[in-house]
Amino acid sequence: MKHFNVTFKPDGRQVSIHEGATLLEATGQIGITLNTVCGGKGTCGKCVVNIEPSGRQVLACQYHIHSDLTVTIPSSSRLFEQKILADGIETKTTFQPDIYKKYRQNDSADKILGLAVDIGTTTVVAKLISMTDGQCLATEAMLNPQTRFGDDVISRISYGETDEKLAELQKVIINCINGLIIKLCNQTGTNPNQIYEVTV
Ligand code: FES
Repeated sequence: MKHFNVTFKPDGRQVSIHEGATLLEATGQIGITLNTVCGGKGTCGKCVVNIEPSGRQVLACQYHIHSDLTVTIPSSSRLFEQKILADGIETKTTFQPDIYKKYRQNDSADKILGLAVDIGTTTVVAKLISMTDGQCLATEAMLNPQTRFGDDVISRISYGETDEKLAELQKVIINCINGLIIKLCNQTGTNPNQIYEVTV
């Protein structure tokens, strides 16, 4: 299949993508998130971009790529990273982990970690928890990458009506959680292999 290069301005970022893909798919591949209130149905008009050099306005979700392109994304069409509320009030809870150190006496790992993930419509927050005392070691958050398939849950459900699109929705959220795990481990000097339990 033929591939074309698309350059996005003012970011200056370039992606190589197969013929017939939409500009929305191209932005998604390089992590640029556009406003996609209707989930790419072409009805909300929020994903307008300009094809250069003419400046012609098109909807990124409806424009299919058939040549190399340079495209300008106006700020009004971008979904900007929002300030994410990642911390709240600690409440007293009884800590009951499923995994105990005593079952792993021969293992040299000094830490048993758990991960708590909150997948919100707009944001994803992950906390790295010490499974020995329940202490939160670090918190990281990201914009939910599924927003590019629709700003609200109904649009995303409607987007995921085929197995292929459902798999795409799953893939981006898994990549997001994996990215959060890497950040949490870098922040705490730990290793993803030390995470034994995940709650989503
Ligand atoms: S028109 Fe709604 S996402 Fe493109």
